[in-house]
Amino acid sequence: MAENPFTPTFGVTPPLLVAREEELEVFVEGLEDGVGSPGRAMLITGTRGSGKTVLLNSIEDAARTRGWLIVSATTGVGVAEELATTRIAELLHKHDPGARAFSPTGGSAGAVGFTAGTQGAYENQVPLPTLNFRSGLERLADVADTRLGAGVLITLDEVHTSAIADLRQITQALQHSFREGRQVALVAAGLPSSVSDLLSDDVTSFLRRAERFTLGPIPAGAVRSALADPITLAGRSIAPIAPEALELAVEGTRGYPFLIQLVGHRSWRVQPKTPEITLEHARAGIDGAIRRAGRMIHEPALRDLSDVDRSFLAAMAIDEGPSQIADIAERMSVDLNYANQYRRRLLAAEMIVPAGRGRLSFTLPYLRDYLNDHAVTEALSGPEARP
Ligand SMILES: Nc1ncnc2c1ncn2[C@@H]1O[C@H](COP(=O)(O)OP(=O)(O)OP(=O)(O)O)[C@@H](O)[C@H]1O
Ligand SMILES: [Mg+2]
Repeated sequence: MAENPFTPTFGVTPPLLVAREEELEVFVEGLEDGVGSPGRAMLITGTRGSGKTVLLNSIEDAARTRGWLIVSATTGVGVAEELATTRIAELLHKHDPGARAFSPTGGSAGAVGFTAGTQGAYENQVPLPTLNFRSGLERLADVADTRLGAGVLITLDEVHTSAIADLRQITQALQHSFREGRQVALVAAGLPSSVSDLLSDDVTSFLRRAERFTLGPIPAGAVRSALADPITLAGRSIAPIAPEALELAVEGTRGYPFLIQLVGHRSWRVQPKTPEITLEHARAGIDGAIRRAGRMIHEPALRDLSDVDRSFLAAMAIDEGPSQIADIAERMSVDLNYANQYRRRLLAAEMIVPAGRGRLSFTLPYLRDYLNDHAVTEALSGPEARP
């Protein structure tokens, strides 16, 4: 039996990554064009499941095939020092002839090899300075340049203000390296709300100047390939006999990367032994995907918000289409100014988008359905708002 090709899991590279040509092109041009090119500092934002992590992965692959050294991390408190003493130290050990005599301090003399994560000192005729992020990066970039004819790519996933001290340290080191003409690049990714918090901090002006990409909905043509090609490659088919099956599945994903994988995965497994994915399978697949999306996308996204933010969204969910701010304020029993404050917060978090003529709609697909299926809307609206 052919194996299900889809990957409805966070951070796992999909069978076919679609619609990321522009981001990858800007990045690769940045590597080729040299120091000062915009692609050498990129900032990627997008809601949960929009594909930030897998884009970072493929950016890393692109750099790796060009000989660049990769230093990647999920952002957290202490990440700068941790990178300096583990990944950067490890790469120096591997590529820097002057650093080969490294031995972990506190380890037994003559310990063989290098242990990532161990604090250590270089025992060398010319002792290396104690490694911090900046000195480590500079030395590694010099080694990458002279010995490999390449550079060092730093990727930071899930950037967040809780690690602001580390982000300052890292971006200042990058900025310094840029100024001195070193071959370094930074690509950072985070949720819209985290990134907008970060950008209001002036010490991260470096990030503000970075080339910014927002991962929005994927166009239908690309979604079609992202669903059909992996199915064909895995030995089944979706389009030839019943083209409407593919069209329904495409529509069901709403262009949302995580849902591409979920809808594909659920549709495949309805009758995995039959050669074709039918309209009926696609329909069942979409239903299953929407249910899963509640737990995997909507719940965590709502958890990130305040109670008032959530009431605002619940007030919107009562409408069948885009909502007016005046209606929302009325349903929440608050004045317009107060409602507008929350409108701004939710816009910055990219939970909602302007939908023309002062109206607002949801960013996450099926969030309205999710909110309506859960008690929060009832509690807010009272009996008259829901016929
Ligand atoms: N361009 C794409 N084409 C097809 N599938 C994609 C694409 N981007 C992401 N996916 C799929 O969507 C899912 C979510 O991707 P990913 O984990 O990168 O999202 P994320 O933005 O990092 O989410 P989070 O904010 O929760 O970390 C994965 O299953 C991935 O395979
Ligand atoms: Mg991620």
